[in-house]
Amino acid sequence: MDEKTIQVIVCEDKKDVGFKAFRIFSDAIYSNPETVLGLATGSTPVEMYKQLIALHKEKGFNFSKTASFNLDEYFMLASDHPQSYRYFMNDVLFNHINIDKTRTHVLNGVCKTPQSECQQFEEILFEQYGGVDLQLLGIGSNGHIAFNEPGSTLDSRTRIVDLNQQTKKDNARFFQKQEDVPTQALTMGIGTILEARKIVLLATGENKAEAINDAINGPITPDVPASFLRYHPDCVFIVDKDAAAIL
Ligand code: PGA
Repeated sequence: MDEKTIQVIVCEDKKDVGFKAFRIFSDAIYSNPETVLGLATGSTPVEMYKQLIALHKEKGFNFSKTASFNLDEYFMLASDHPQSYRYFMNDVLFNHINIDKTRTHVLNGVCKTPQSECQQFEEILFEQYGGVDLQLLGIGSNGHIAFNEPGSTLDSRTRIVDLNQQTKKDNARFFQKQEDVPTQALTMGIGTILEARKIVLLATGENKAEAINDAINGPITPDVPASFLRYHPDCVFIVDKDAAAIL
């Protein structure tokens, strides 16, 4: 596979990161209302989601034909658990726009057989919807994308994974106690993510600076899963000054 150049846009602050991402996403949906979005959870995309909600509420922007597939879900958290990613997506975006919920796809964390849940998710994504047109990503301080922790391979597909210590620590802020953080998750694989037609990765804050630099300037390696994005022909990183600090 040939290495490509990742476009890097450095913004003044978090708000500006959200605005630039918002422009890319709203333009894509405007030109093709049936765009298949790949969506992410975490604190980074929230600003962009707020702006999409405002566009719908203030200008009547139409999401009714748009579809979405989320990157990941905690294993063993049901959709009505406030820390589940289905709950989060409903709360920060889907409940406030006119997207058809039957077209929003989040892996089922309480499935009986994770392997068939993951396989079915990929079948729906690729066979019924033709894959992701525009993929949104965050990045972990350990360089993960979705829940593809260091050690994940280029050809990995949607599957159940163990969360590593750093991720559990980073995500403990959303739970009452560190012990409440789930230890496993279902996640799209790196191979799955790289099949999206366009990828937009957002990062803000100094705790992401090392991961961003490693992804762009370090070796392409499973140790830094985001470094595999350098194989994608159309990938942009939108980062604030803090996350760009050591580039
Ligand atoms: P964050 O998470 O947006 O909450 O920093 C990003 C990630 O872990 O992918």
